[in-house]
Amino acid sequence: MDGFYKVGVNKDNGYRLSFERGMMRRIQWHYVVLVLGVCLSIHLLGNLVVNNFHQRLNNMDMHKRSLGPKTPLIQNKNSVVSNQEILNSANYKSNSTKNIGILFYNKPSWMSFESTVIDSTRCPNLKQKCTIYTNNKNYERSKGVIFCGEKLPSKVPEKKKGQVWTFFSIESPFLFSVRPEWKDKFSWTMTYRRDSDFTYFYGKIQKREIPLSRNYPEVFKRKNKTVSWAVSNCNSFSKREEYVKKLQKYISVDEYGKCGKLKCGQRSAGVTDCHKKFAEEYKFYLAVENSICKDYTTEKLFNFFFYDLPMIPIINGPKNAREYIPNGTYINMLDYASPEELAKDLERIGSNETLYSEYLKEKDKYTGSRFRWEVALCPMCSRLQENSLTSSKIIPDISSWIWNDTCIRP
Ligand SMILES: *[C@@H]1O[C@H](CO)[C@@H](O)[C@H](O)[C@H]1NC(C)=O
Ligand SMILES: *[C@@H]1O[C@H](CO)[C@@H](O)[C@H](O)[C@H]1NC(C)=O
Ligand SMILES: *[C@@H]1O[C@H](CO)[C@@H](O)[C@H](O)[C@H]1NC(C)=O
Ligand SMILES: *[C@@H]1O[C@H](CO)[C@@H](O)[C@H](O)[C@H]1NC(C)=O
Ligand SMILES: *[C@@H]1O[C@H](CO)[C@@H](O)[C@H](O)[C@H]1NC(C)=O
Repeated sequence: MDGFYKVGVNKDNGYRLSFERGMMRRIQWHYVVLVLGVCLSIHLLGNLVVNNFHQRLNNMDMHKRSLGPKTPLIQNKNSVVSNQEILNSANYKSNSTKNIGILFYNKPSWMSFESTVIDSTRCPNLKQKCTIYTNNKNYERSKGVIFCGEKLPSKVPEKKKGQVWTFFSIESPFLFSVRPEWKDKFSWTMTYRRDSDFTYFYGKIQKREIPLSRNYPEVFKRKNKTVSWAVSNCNSFSKREEYVKKLQKYISVDEYGKCGKLKCGQRSAGVTDCHKKFAEEYKFYLAVENSICKDYTTEKLFNFFFYDLPMIPIINGPKNAREYIPNGTYINMLDYASPEELAKDLERIGSNETLYSEYLKEKDKYTGSRFRWEVALCPMCSRLQENSLTSSKIIPDISSWIWNDTCIRP
């Protein structure tokens, strides 16, 4: 929830990565780096690093606890190989089999992404493997090149024959702009948008085979407060703070964090104890995004499903949220004519135990899963191996693609 605690705030243009989002990703990849590092260190330094090792393992454990289960690209020690091994195998195999290189050219700093090989053990149906590189010295041997569009280099590298370039971004278009020289360089996209060639989603909601069940009357009884909100970016593109100010005229909203009067605990990755406490005491939570853009929904909302929080989330859009968040599990500000109308409905739902519990029961039919890199890289690898692949399809203007009327400015 960028709302609560975040790092890297640039007050001028608002470019930032939310603390939690950044943390989660960082931890996901740190996990990989950690395991790698630990193996190597042990190998090289033996007992010298044992203490360090335990320390790291403890840290890792802590992260795992606070983040819940997740599946990094490299999942276990056995599948971790050193960069050198990867390079060797790539050099060797590239002459005999179709081992295709995919380079992440300007990997963002939060992504502690290591070079790795993906093959049929990680990507079902993949006929031949791909090597994922993060070092630009592999540029020439890479057929696929991924560029983080949020901070493209000022100099466009020379595109090699047959290369296919992918535009990557998971931030809303308000948070960055693309230099004109990059306008017509990309063939594919990898963004949070569901019409991207490869979608990097923040979360996906799935139906459970067996719904969760809880003591709903008890849950309701303990909730003696109305709306909570934890936020630290006090000036957003979505103008959520202005909306909330209006809403507060009609209903009580407790604001936690930097922009509010209330404080709750220490910052932490994942869902904080605060959020669990909110879920006990509050009926609603403002899971409102910094930007209102088609398909743009972050962990602010998905955390409710990852962690099964028994509370109704209120989102501030987008309009098409109903295409990927099940009806009856959340409330969308954009479905109301005014903050006053919303407040009335919150009053209606929050004061009727039967109705309120219907929302929680509906929500408990679902669970959420996080993005794993395989989801995007396996199909990318596969497409790069297609014989019919031509890199001639170019998106004429990547900025138009990014905007394309997908965002609203309140
Ligand atoms: C594989 O090809 C590279 C150049 O692409 C070459 O330097 C290397 O010697 C070749 N390896 C083998 C085993 O043929
Ligand atoms: C609400 O309930 C919590 C315990 O669940 C309690 O600590 C708190 O004092 C209550 N607040 C009000 C306003 O009754
Ligand atoms: C969505 O849920 C609301 C409230 O739970 C209900 O009134 C409405 O009819 C539902 N809409 C659809 C399309 O199912
Ligand atoms: C509470 O909600 C239930 C279910 O939607 C509805 O049948 C009932 O009439 C509501 N009660 C009141 C007092 O509005
Ligand atoms: C914008 O989106 C529409 C459909 O939503 C699509 O038909 C059109 O090609 C898109 N334009 C660009 C520049 O991507």
